[in-house]
Amino acid sequence: PVAELEERIAAAKAELGERLVVLGHYYQRDEVVQFADFVGDSYQLAQQATTTSADHVVFCGVHFMAETADLLTSPEQSVVLPNLAAGCSMADMADLDSVTACWEQLEAVYGTEPDAEGRVPVVPVTYMNSSAALKAFCGDHGGIVCTSSNAAAVLAWAFERGRRVLFFPDQHLGRNTGSAMGVPLEQMPLWDPRKPLGGNEAEALLDARVLLWRGWCSVHQRFTTAQVDAARAADPAVRVVVHPECPKEVVDAADEAGSTQHIERVVREAAPGTSFAIGTEINMVRRLAAQHPDLTIACLDPVICPCSTMYRIHPGYLAWVLEALVRGEVLNRVQVDDAVAASARVALQRMLEVRP
Ligand code: 13P
Ligand code: SF4
Repeated sequence: PVAELEERIAAAKAELGERLVVLGHYYQRDEVVQFADFVGDSYQLAQQATTTSADHVVFCGVHFMAETADLLTSPEQSVVLPNLAAGCSMADMADLDSVTACWEQLEAVYGTEPDAEGRVPVVPVTYMNSSAALKAFCGDHGGIVCTSSNAAAVLAWAFERGRRVLFFPDQHLGRNTGSAMGVPLEQMPLWDPRKPLGGNEAEALLDARVLLWRGWCSVHQRFTTAQVDAARAADPAVRVVVHPECPKEVVDAADEAGSTQHIERVVREAAPGTSFAIGTEINMVRRLAAQHPDLTIACLDPVICPCSTMYRIHPGYLAWVLEALVRGEVLNRVQVDDAVAASARVALQRMLEVRP
């Protein structure tokens, strides 16, 4: 029973005291997120990892977030993911072999020499939702990491150094951000890793400014403009707020788009009586609705759309790893291989130094 698990989690947390910090992403289920010492978006959670002095960071989120926390804490600190099967299907859409193969093809098209202004042909930018190996690739190739809260500032950083950007794995965040910065759609070709030159003609690539990897989030890809139209038809005053992993036409039709932390802030700062249709994960939307009874909050998609991997952090796993820590046993530790850690840190550090 959940009540019993909750008691066990609370007891283990009390026992571990300051030696433990529990970080939780907004998409975690209520039964888990209630135990988080800090709840945030991917950027904020990474920042928390850089500042905590706890011996153990228990990360209630998905694997790439735990890897990032490991990269940003000291080797003596351990990062624990309560269920190691909590991955991210989008992060799995780009792997080191296919990104390396793409990079070699781009070098054949663009060469490797900087232009007259000293800008390199391509700067690789990886979304935080990626493996440590891809962050390391960016660290080694003059690139950088971004999250949904700093993507525009990071792309601006990349355009100061390069003529174009290779953006992976999320095509939507790349397209939405590039488009908001004024890059025309024709200059943002899709790169399909299963095809030579991503399915593009070499000449067409010469004009490219942002090469978009063919990846997507299965949760956010579901939102449609028909849903936006239906929400506005039902309530003409509704504010439509979506995550930038949604397709561009949905972001364009919405009133605004932003990271999970941005969505939380927009709702928190809204005048009583405001009504929202929110295009993001259902656990977060439901929690916002419960926390703000003076607002009307619904998910843009009437069919429930949870992130199935975030949901894999069950309170049973949380109790299990915390009780093990009380006994002095570290279970489900996420530790980035030394072979890639230093390079991955370079790319993350560049991101942390960019001012949004
Ligand atoms: P945020 O950085 O906005 O929290 O997004 C992470 C994520 O995985 C959204 O699907
Ligand atoms: Fe990955 Fe989408 Fe889940 Fe975010 S919501 S963790 S991008 S699958």
